[in-house]
Amino acid sequence: MSSLLALFFSLSLLRAVAGATADQWRSRSIYQIITDRFALPQGADINACDPGKQTWCGGTWATIRENLDYIQNAGFTAIWISPVSQNYEGPRSAYGDAYHGYWIADASKLNDRFGTADDLKALSDDLHKRGMYLMIDVVVNNVMSTSVTPDYSKYMFKNPSQYHPYCPIQWGNVTSEQNCWLGDTKVPLPDLNTQDPTVVSGYSSWIKDLVTEFNIDGLRIDAAKHVQPGFWNVFCEAAGVFCIGEVFGDDINEAASYQAPNELDSILNYPMYTALTQAFWIPGALNSSAITNTLELYKTKFKDPGLLGNFLENQDLPRWANMSVDPQSMYNAMAFNFMSDGIPIVYYGQEQGFHGSADPWNREPLWTSNYTNSSAYEMIASLNQFRNFLINSTSDWLQSRTDVLTTSDVGIAIQKGDVISILTNIGSPPQNVSMAVYSPFPTSTTMTEILSCSQYVVGSNGTISVEYSKGGQAKVLIPTNLLQNSGICGSVQAQPEQQTKGQLASAAFVDRKQPSFFTCGLYFVFLILGLIATSVHV
Ligand SMILES: *[C@@H]1O[C@H](CO)[C@@H](O)[C@H](O)[C@H]1NC(C)=O
Ligand SMILES: *[C@@H]1O[C@H](CO)[C@@H](O)[C@H](O)[C@H]1NC(C)=O
Ligand SMILES: *[C@@H]1O[C@H](CO)[C@@H](O)[C@H](O)[C@H]1NC(C)=O
Ligand SMILES: *[C@@H]1O[C@H](CO)[C@@H](O)[C@H](O)[C@H]1NC(C)=O
Ligand SMILES: *[C@@H]1O[C@H](CO)[C@@H](O)[C@H](O)[C@H]1NC(C)=O
Ligand SMILES: *[C@@H]1O[C@H](CO)[C@@H](O)[C@H](O)[C@H]1NC(C)=O
Ligand SMILES: *[C@@H]1O[C@H](CO)[C@@H](O)[C@H](O)[C@H]1NC(C)=O
Ligand SMILES: *[C@@H]1O[C@H](CO)[C@@H](O)[C@H](O)[C@H]1NC(C)=O
Repeated sequence: MSSLLALFFSLSLLRAVAGATADQWRSRSIYQIITDRFALPQGADINACDPGKQTWCGGTWATIRENLDYIQNAGFTAIWISPVSQNYEGPRSAYGDAYHGYWIADASKLNDRFGTADDLKALSDDLHKRGMYLMIDVVVNNVMSTSVTPDYSKYMFKNPSQYHPYCPIQWGNVTSEQNCWLGDTKVPLPDLNTQDPTVVSGYSSWIKDLVTEFNIDGLRIDAAKHVQPGFWNVFCEAAGVFCIGEVFGDDINEAASYQAPNELDSILNYPMYTALTQAFWIPGALNSSAITNTLELYKTKFKDPGLLGNFLENQDLPRWANMSVDPQSMYNAMAFNFMSDGIPIVYYGQEQGFHGSADPWNREPLWTSNYTNSSAYEMIASLNQFRNFLINSTSDWLQSRTDVLTTSDVGIAIQKGDVISILTNIGSPPQNVSMAVYSPFPTSTTMTEILSCSQYVVGSNGTISVEYSKGGQAKVLIPTNLLQNSGICGSVQAQPEQQTKGQLASAAFVDRKQPSFFTCGLYFVFLILGLIATSVHV
């Protein structure tokens, strides 16, 4: 009797938390985690982790679950974690151990370095109780080996005919990028033949079961551009959840071709990342036109800019602060990502000012930060709180498109819905410069700048003037009367209970709907602004 009840209960829970669609993800804000590096178990040595050693540091699904307050208090409404499948466990490879989770051995097994099936379920359940979503990274294009003649019996697909024969990638040759092997001869990444019907059906049933068993809400697809067109659509339909793919590189035509009915719901926004580096890196080109140009291209290239994954850092790129040491550079670019079209994604550690260079220096342990409420953390919390408020309180903010109001030598002003963001690349030192922005708001409208809570009054002809005599802070403005009941900058909060920014934010998101089937797409690897990334893992 009680087990029947339990069964009934768990079935109804399953229904209640079935995965999320692209449209549900549109309103989210994602915190990206390298599972091994986010949090340690109680009592572990906090000084033992050296990213340069490229080995496991001890983070798990359980330690993520134990530290979700830190993420939710910053206003995030979803997390993206490292791949969950079993990884290579043999002798240390030329590039260290598989701590990052991208070196797939048998995809059908879980990675026991990160915990048990129950630990992963507990993480998923805890997220859902908080109204948050779980996105997992999946590696489908390839497995990992330490030679070009692997023992195929150790993989989920055991027949050599289910793989493309070894060949090194000839970059620029699309067939080669799709069929040859990523990695190199020291750590080759055997490439699945995703046109083989047994691979298509095997992967489809695998992902369907994984998503169902762990109530996964969305997938981040590694190396999406290394699989031939037509595969992701089938794979993501089987998964039944939102799919966002890695299409590494700043070619907007290539990127956009993967956000298509036959491909993926969305892609990680490398083209805008590149534009942001050109506009905001100090020292750098300081070229705001790169943003204007890219936004203009959104209109004709992307099927749905509101779903693009906007980021400034990830596990393959140097930290923003490694390339651009002035903190205001990062804050202004960050404000752009939260206040323009797309889903903001913050890579763990950015909120603590981490400044390592590319792999492996960009996978620092987070615990050395003591999880403090740093300036960057507070800035991100404010942006999340504001974005979550806009989503909950207006019907059209997410659907509105970003327009450029002004570009100047010192920055750019954009508008999305009723929000005007005035962003600059002058950095922290005060400068005797100003920017005048023509807004659509009537003369004398009072605007609140939500990061500093200062007030601005709209002048004649809709002008909003900002000056930088205290340094180049980002300014995010909204007519003050629209902040009513937001809890922002002294406005009384709608809800009586005492809540932190983040909890307030994600309370808006408990309305999970049944999944509908959305399409998905392709993937991954190599250079940005002259940095050649050796594509050993993702
Ligand atoms: C492109 O790569 C494919 C697969 O390796 C190869 O068969 C083909 O000859 C290459 N094309 C050119 C023009 O090199
Ligand atoms: C600024 O960026 C635009 C768009 O990418 C480009 O056309 C222009 O040449 C760049 N200007 C400079 C000075 O680099
Ligand atoms: C960039 O990263 C490298 C390696 O992590 C480090 O040695 C260097 O100091 C960093 N530069 C900055 C500006 O943080
Ligand atoms: C974290 O706490 C330890 C112990 O109190 C301290 O030694 C260390 O400096 C702190 N680190 C940061 C970044 O605040
Ligand atoms: C950060 O702030 C939150 C809420 O304001 C507080 O609960 C938390 O303890 C603070 N964390 C640290 C490490 O100071
Ligand atoms: C700032 O610049 C304006 C005009 O460019 C000038 O009139 C003014 O004196 C300057 N102020 C300071 C403090 O340098
Ligand atoms: C008024 O604003 C528009 C843009 O909205 C601008 O093109 C025009 O030059 C402004 N007129 C004056 C007199 O400043
Ligand atoms: C979202 O808006 C509704 C009504 O519009 C309100 O009742 C609710 O408290 C808001 N939730 C949050 C988290 O702001």
